[in-house]
Amino acid sequence: MTTSINGPPLSFIVSFFLCAVIFRSGVVLCESVPGLYIFGDSLVDVGNNNYLALSLAKANFPHNGVDFPTGKATGRFSNGKNAADFLAEKVGLPSAPAYLSLVSKSKKLSSSNATVTGISFASGGAGIFNGTDELFQVEFYSLVHDQLVQQLGAAAAQTHLSKSLFLIIIGSNDLFGYFNKDSNVSKQYTPQQYVDLMKMHGLGARKFVVSGVGVIGCCPAQRKQNNTECKAEANYWSKKYNDGLQALLRELKSELSDINYSYFHLYDAMNGVIQHPQNYGITEIKAACCGLGNLKADIPCIPVSTFCTNRKNHLFWDLYHPTETASGIFAGIIYGGSPQFTNPMNVEQLVKA
Ligand SMILES: *[C@@H]1O[C@H](CO)[C@@H](O)[C@H](O)[C@H]1NC(C)=O
Ligand SMILES: *[C@@H]1O[C@H](CO)[C@@H](O)[C@H](O)[C@H]1NC(C)=O
Ligand SMILES: *[C@@H]1O[C@H](CO)[C@@H](O)[C@H](O)[C@H]1NC(C)=O
Ligand SMILES: *[C@@H]1O[C@H](CO)[C@@H](O)[C@H](O)[C@H]1NC(C)=O
Ligand SMILES: *[C@@H]1O[C@H](CO)[C@@H](O)[C@H](O)[C@H]1NC(C)=O
Repeated sequence: MTTSINGPPLSFIVSFFLCAVIFRSGVVLCESVPGLYIFGDSLVDVGNNNYLALSLAKANFPHNGVDFPTGKATGRFSNGKNAADFLAEKVGLPSAPAYLSLVSKSKKLSSSNATVTGISFASGGAGIFNGTDELFQVEFYSLVHDQLVQQLGAAAAQTHLSKSLFLIIIGSNDLFGYFNKDSNVSKQYTPQQYVDLMKMHGLGARKFVVSGVGVIGCCPAQRKQNNTECKAEANYWSKKYNDGLQALLRELKSELSDINYSYFHLYDAMNGVIQHPQNYGITEIKAACCGLGNLKADIPCIPVSTFCTNRKNHLFWDLYHPTETASGIFAGIIYGGSPQFTNPMNVEQLVKA
């Protein structure tokens, strides 16, 4: 799965071959995604937190992973795959491995097993404010960038990165944090994320896939505080946050004309599932599948908790996170969704942009 960047990278050979076939069949354009770089929180963590001794946000124990191909917990906050896994499948890449699974104790990437098909820096518990976790994702990406330049040469690294997708799913933890203390989130989040995106652009990123936050007030942890109904205040701030994020992206695009992005309206997509669950084969939108107590949200998904037998008809796996089924639905919309849910384009169009 991991392609050595010593010697010819397999992904380059494969994509060259595919292009040649497409070209011979008469299609002139060759579109492929060479790499998928993932930044974010527990919605897309593939196991970075397993390596953080002090992090409390871990999912490397049952019943997480019960539907993963190995049947084992991987560090994903899910019964199976998450949205990053499904998006990788859609663009024909292996799931991006967790950065910290590839590095030695010094946190430096070892060239022996570096990968050019993408890396995940996502970390459960991460927020846009860098104080929420010891893992500084953009800093780690900077090390990976330097290594790619070293291994491929500056020009090839630039080409690789300019065609790669940079998926960013983050923000929920800052909002949850906001409800717990009296911080002024709407004033603070924008500058830091802007700085991070500018840094990523400076390090070769050109195609961004950015998700807003979901209907946070409707997750089991919030619903249990309002007699199983959604918390209005949390949803109000989710919308505000998303408005700010979209304004930030428009500003970024006007400042950096050589980028393209796809914004995913997770809020609306999730609301669609909540309003019309039957359209998605889902019947349980309130209670978590795994946990204990009211809406299975009093106790999180830990080994002593119970979990539901039918995971496919639940929106939520645990008190905060979607099931594999829900993640698959969202990834499908991210990739091929209509302008109602993705703008100014979906990922299928972004790949060709
Ligand atoms: C990557 O390489 C390091 C050092 O050589 C090693 O400790 C680690 O187990 C390797 N990780 C994987 C996923 O192969
Ligand atoms: C991020 O971390 C740096 C260094 O630790 C600190 O100076 C800066 O204030 C932090 N930014 C935020 C928004 O917390
Ligand atoms: C947030 O900031 C605005 C403008 O700076 C201020 O008017 C408002 O009182 C602040 N809210 C809180 C909760 O601190
Ligand atoms: C609780 O739910 C009801 C019904 O949706 C809603 O009208 C009300 O605003 C909610 N209360 C809070 C505190 O969010
Ligand atoms: C991507 O960005 C470039 C540069 O701004 C622009 O010319 C192009 O039209 C964009 N692609 C799409 C599909 O919007």
